Amino acid sequence: MPDKSRRDFLRWLAASPLLAGLDLKSCTRPPAPPVPPTAPQPLGPSAPLVTSAEQALDVFDMKAVAQHKLPPAHWGYLSTGVDGEATLRANEEAYARLYLRPRLMVDVRKLDTSVTLFGRTWPTPIFMCPVSGQLAYHPDRELGSARAAKAKDTLQILSTVGNTGVEELAQARGEPTWYQLYPTSRWDVTQALVARATRTGCPAICVTVDLPYDSNRETAARLARQDTRDCTGCHGTPAQRETTYFAKKPMFSGLKIVRGEVRAPQLTWEFVSKLRDLTKAKLLIKGLVTREDAARALGVGADGIIVSNHGGRAEDSGRGTIDSLPEVVAEVKGRIPVLVDSGVRRGSDVVKALARGATMVGIGRPYVWGLAAFGQPGVERVLDILRHELELTMGLAGTPRIKDIGPAAIGS
Ligand SMILES: Cc1cc2nc3c(=O)[nH]c(=O)nc-3n(C[C@H](O)[C@H](O)[C@H](O)COP(=O)(O)O)c2cc1C
Repeated sequence: MPDKSRRDFLRWLAASPLLAGLDLKSCTRPPAPPVPPTAPQPLGPSAPLVTSAEQALDVFDMKAVAQHKLPPAHWGYLSTGVDGEATLRANEEAYARLYLRPRLMVDVRKLDTSVTLFGRTWPTPIFMCPVSGQLAYHPDRELGSARAAKAKDTLQILSTVGNTGVEELAQARGEPTWYQLYPTSRWDVTQALVARATRTGCPAICVTVDLPYDSNRETAARLARQDTRDCTGCHGTPAQRETTYFAKKPMFSGLKIVRGEVRAPQLTWEFVSKLRDLTKAKLLIKGLVTREDAARALGVGADGIIVSNHGGRAEDSGRGTIDSLPEVVAEVKGRIPVLVDSGVRRGSDVVKALARGATMVGIGRPYVWGLAAFGQPGVERVLDILRHELELTMGLAGTPRIKDIGPAAIGS
């Protein structure tokens, strides 16, 4: 039926006494169910923006300000997961599925959140993960994070591909920090990086092994397309990105590394054994998520393991690290410390990770949200918020000391 005739017929039908008394609205089709997103959705601020670090009530207040302030490409790089971002979501959601089993009528007047690791006591088990390129988030870059880490006496790990060298960071922090090593495909580069960290006095080196390839970061790519700025000033031309860009990173200074050498798909456990022989610093392996690899780590003499999926930026298995942690802890049987990161957003998450056997619990994006939002005070506020939440959770759950937090503190 041609369009005009159909419209005439419908008009006649609507006016017809045959339809009088019928509720036509009830005849209309119900709205279609929402279509599940097939692509990662950019996260949006859920509350009015806070205007100072002190106003932030939780780390999500910082997240909203960070998203508001950062250019799309930088926000995209910070927030991205990989593929459909199943792992990114799982990291947070898996914590939400665990519940606390508060024990009541316990004397919780005195709360002690301190932990001791490798002979050093920290006021809380919360540490700051290595996050690359912090100049993209605030002009104070890693130094802002370091000063906050100093103010709050918090363990901080410097990334190989940060905008700050290990010596400068140690100065801002007031002492050498832990150093995160990316194994490039060049052994001479590894030797030089480890020698430099050792010279600076870094007490621990964390070798990140979960990125033998670049991963598929769609959100980063999508948001970079929305960014209309000319980025060559910082990132160089596409050709320079392949050749000189990485060599300009402070830790690669003088090493002439090119982009193709930054990832190391050929690595095996022999590399970690060689690394073990190269340094007397504590050697931790970051990025393990299985009992099999935990056994290998013990076999090569690692001093610790960081259970991590790179904050959902490596593979897209859809498994949160809090669910990977138990098999690693069971394999290790207390012989070396097991740390965990990815998806930690609340003090209660810290308690859950400790209950599953973690020695310390890392945050990546949350402190960088604070940095992007308000610089050093923002990072300090994030550390304060999480510490406060941790203390409250410990008080309310009847676990006044870290050692009171065992498997019975949570359920699922
Ligand atoms: C923007 C960004 C950059 C990162 N850079 C590094 C890095 O250089 N080296 C590394 O080992 N991990 C890196 N990570 C992973 C973090 O160390 C950490 O495992 C992760 O952020 C923890 O998850 P969360 O962000 O959900 O807290 C990075 C993470 C983000 C978000």
